[in-house]
Amino acid sequence: MIRHSVWDPLVRIFHWSLVLTFAANALITDPESNLHEWVGYIVLGLVGLRLVWGVIGARHARFAAFIPTPNTVLGQLQDLATGRKRVHLGHTPLGALMIFNLLLTLLAIGATGYMMTTNTYWGVEWVEETHELLVSWAEMSVAAHIAAVIFESWRTGVNLPRAMVSGVKSVPADAKVVE
Ligand code: HEM
Ligand code: HEM
Repeated sequence: MIRHSVWDPLVRIFHWSLVLTFAANALITDPESNLHEWVGYIVLGLVGLRLVWGVIGARHARFAAFIPTPNTVLGQLQDLATGRKRVHLGHTPLGALMIFNLLLTLLAIGATGYMMTTNTYWGVEWVEETHELLVSWAEMSVAAHIAAVIFESWRTGVNLPRAMVSGVKSVPADAKVVE
């Protein structure tokens, strides 16, 4: 195994705080409570922080390091179709698409949540329905995200969840590494 330091502390703290706060609002808090609003604002704050870190942050945390292009996405699809094992040190192109989807969806959930607290949009049905629809979309996305993380960990022999805890990806010595 060759060890590569990839995820800085901010990315890791961001990720697991997001998991906790998203799960709390999707599953636990009473949607009509102040707690729901505060936890929702923490989610927004975390995403905001991550957006800034995506510009000024450490090497693998920067969006510029993992913006997918048609070519890189096709390359990963070919890897999957042919069983070619390539390990991306940062996020994979398909992983990156999911990450942008999640970040944007969370922003929209926060925006529609906030709208429901304003005089103009309070009680307006389409806002509440959009909030719910976006939450359902986020939940389906998270299910796909977790399934993909497990599948890719199994396929490449790199324990991705562990890397999101320790910051270190342990890559099998014979694997081809994509920077
Ligand atoms: C137990 C559940 C989860 C596990 C095991 C998990 C695991 C992971 C792993 C391993 C990565 C890094 C993937 C890679 O190596 O490229 C990742 C990234 C990410 N995950 Fe999750 N995840 C979970 C739940 C969630 C949830 C609930 C959300 C949001 C609602 C989420 C949002 C993200 C985001 C935004 C990233 C990108 C991290 C960054 O670059 O800042 N994850 N996740
Ligand atoms: C990750 C962030 C969030 C998640 C996962 C989330 C999730 C949910 C869920 C599951 C519901 C219940 C929908 C239903 O009735 O079936 C809901 C309703 C609601 N949410 Fe959020 N929410 C989030 C953020 C926010 C924010 C930031 C605010 C406001 C500042 C907010 C305000 C509301 C309000 C006012 C309702 C309607 C409550 C009612 O039924 O009167 N949410 N949200």
